[in-house]
Formats: sequence, C-alpha cells, structure tokens
Amino acid sequence: MTINVGVIGFGMGSYHCKFYEANPRSTLVAICDLDAARLEKARALYPKARMYTQYDEMFAKEKLDAVSVALPNVLHAPVTLAALRAGLHVLCEKPMSVDAVAAEEMRQAALQADKKLMIHLNYRFSPASQWAKRFVSEGNLGRIYYARTRWLRARGIPRIGSWFGIKEMSGGGPMIDLGVHRLDLALWLLGYPRALTVSAATHGDLGQRLAREAKAKYDVEDLVSAFIRLENGVTLTLEASWAGGTDQREEMMTGIYGDTGALVQRNMRETYEFETLGLLDVAGALTQVTPKSLPGECASAVDHFVDCVVDDQQPGPSAENGVALMRIIDAVYQSAREGREVRLSE
Ligand SMILES: NC(=O)c1ccc[n+]([C@@H]2O[C@H](COP(=O)([O-])OP(=O)(O)OC[C@H]3O[C@@H](n4cnc5c(N)ncnc54)[C@H](O)[C@@H]3O)[C@@H](O)[C@H]2O)c1
Repeated sequence: MTINVGVIGFGMGSYHCKFYEANPRSTLVAICDLDAARLEKARALYPKARMYTQYDEMFAKEKLDAVSVALPNVLHAPVTLAALRAGLHVLCEKPMSVDAVAAEEMRQAALQADKKLMIHLNYRFSPASQWAKRFVSEGNLGRIYYARTRWLRARGIPRIGSWFGIKEMSGGGPMIDLGVHRLDLALWLLGYPRALTVSAATHGDLGQRLAREAKAKYDVEDLVSAFIRLENGVTLTLEASWAGGTDQREEMMTGIYGDTGALVQRNMRETYEFETLGLLDVAGALTQVTPKSLPGECASAVDHFVDCVVDDQQPGPSAENGVALMRIIDAVYQSAREGREVRLSE
C-alpha cells in the first residue's frame, strides 16, 4: 500500500519532499507555498506534483492521506487542525505550536479524528541517537539522577528580520527553536518523565542590538538557561542560544548521568555530525565506551511517519511528547518573565 502526501511550506518542507519522493510507500502528489519563487523551485524539482498556494484548496482537490506542515510556528496549530478536519494524518514540524493550549487542542483533535499526529523532532532519528537510547534503556547508567542538554550558537539568529525573531509568529527564540530539539532528546532518553518545576532566565539585549544593526525587528530571547525538576528526583539543565552562548559556531550536547554510568552525545567540529559515548565503572576505573560500529542506518523521521500511517502504528515523537515539551516551554517563558520558579500542574 502507498499513501498520497502533500507538503505545506517549501522551506524545511523541501527536506520532507525528498524523503516522500524517495520512499516507495509514499507518493508526493502536491506542494503548497504562498511564495511564488519557492513554488517555482518546487515545480522544477517535482514536476509530477501539483502546486498550490492555498492549503484548503489542496485538501479539497487532491486525494491525500497525509500532509507535512512546515510553516512558521504560529501556523502549525491552525493548519494541523484544518488538515485533521479534512481527514488527513499530519507530520507537523517542531515546535508543535506556539503554546501548550494550542498543542493540547491539536492532540485532542487528532484523537477525535483518529488520525496520526507526529512532531518532526528528527534528532532522535540517527544511528547514534538510537544507540544512545538503547544504552540508557538497557540500564547501564543505574539510577539516573541528572541530565543536561544544550544547543548554543555564538552568532546564529536564523535569517535576521524573518518571522523567527518575531514572538507572535514564532512563539519565542532559541528556546522554542533549538532548545525544543535538545529537550526532546534528553526527555526521550530519560523515558519522558513528568516535569514538576521550571526555573529559567532569558536574555535578549544582544539579539536586539544585532537586529538594530541589521535594521530588523526582533522581540524574542537570544539565550535561555533553565533548571527543571523531573519526577523521581531527576534534575535537568537546559541551555539554548542564537547569539553569544559559546565560542563555537554550533555547540550541541546532551548528557545523562546515573550512579553506574553516563551517556554523552555531542556534535563534532561545530558540525551537525555527532559522537556518542558511554561511561561505565569497569574494573575500578571510569571507562569510556565508544561504539566501534553503530547499528545500520535507521529510518528517517519522515520515513517513520509513512510507516506508521501505512502500518497503522503510533508514531513517536508523539503528540503527547509535543504537548509535554510545550508545557515546559510555556513554564520556561513564564518563569523568566516573573523571575521565579514555576510549578507545573498535574
Ligand atoms: N526539524 C528541523 O530540524 C527544522 C529545521 C528547520 C526548520 N524547522 C521548522 O520548520 C518550520 C518552517 O521553517 P522554515 O525554516 O522552513 O521557514 P521558512 O520561512 O523558510 O519557510 C516557511 C514557508 O512557509 C510558507 N508559508 C507561510 N505561510 C503560508 C501559508 N499560509 N500557506 C502556505 N505557505 C505558507 C512561506 O512562504 C515559506 O516558504 C518551522 O516551524 C521551523 O521551526 C525544523
């Protein structure tokens, strides 16, 4: 069986298109974008797909099974809800929405429509991350008590002057853009424990100065740091920046620490290539365990979504994970605004 898919938004959506096009279980039948130049580019790359500027027209005219929503963050909720109403499964880009209320509405709508809703938190989908998950799940770390996770850039505001830096379009800065990936990775490795409290600070002066120099609008943070208490006594520190957070162009790291071992994943040479290593007490010495060869290529996030739709399986990162992340992100911004720790309700 194959499914017909459409992609809405041809920025990051172009990456989704590549996977749908290559997957024998999916057919890319339509692409939607408001931007004529981007649509022309899409037409040249995918001449068999039909092009739209209005997603509701695409829903009405095409026989679609599923769509990817790869739009500015503020549009994730309304367009996902419209797609679910049209009877489609949805792969929604991260962050799930701009706040937890909208995310919960999306989760409920997917349940009611009995459709799959997956969030594109793609950093889980690499052999290194899959190995990390297995290393932790197999109990090598003993009792886990601490985790840290970060994605820092020295100068990396995405397309300064674009919607990314405008709160009402993006929902926030590096926290919601980069931090959401690293937060998901840490919580996924930990088995998604519930967050109990969040204490956080955000800073934005540097971003605003850089935006002024570029004569651009900018009203989100450029750096966030947070301390999160999780159930079972585990604590998590989180950092994310678009500017000023590091001496490196790009610095990512996630560490999970237990009483018999640890797991560390970090990017190499300021790139998007990662190394993952374990630390274990062996023969009285703290010993580094580095996989000599990782398990083979794992499915991409897009391919996983296709498999889940075709085989009627629940996809992960799930809508539940997306809501849990948005509740923490809301609490981060509230804590930063109010200058106090925020307790998450049951
Ligand atoms: N998972 C990842 O690693 C990753 C990486 C980059 C971006 N993203 C996410 O993807 C989403 C899009 O980011 P981007 O970098 O592609 O942004 P972008 O601004 O480059 O692209 C968004 C596209 O949406 C189009 N658009 C806007 N409103 C529309 C509408 N009503 N109907 C149809 N098209 C519309 C725009 O014309 C634009 O081409 C964001 O949520 C971002 O967080 C995820």
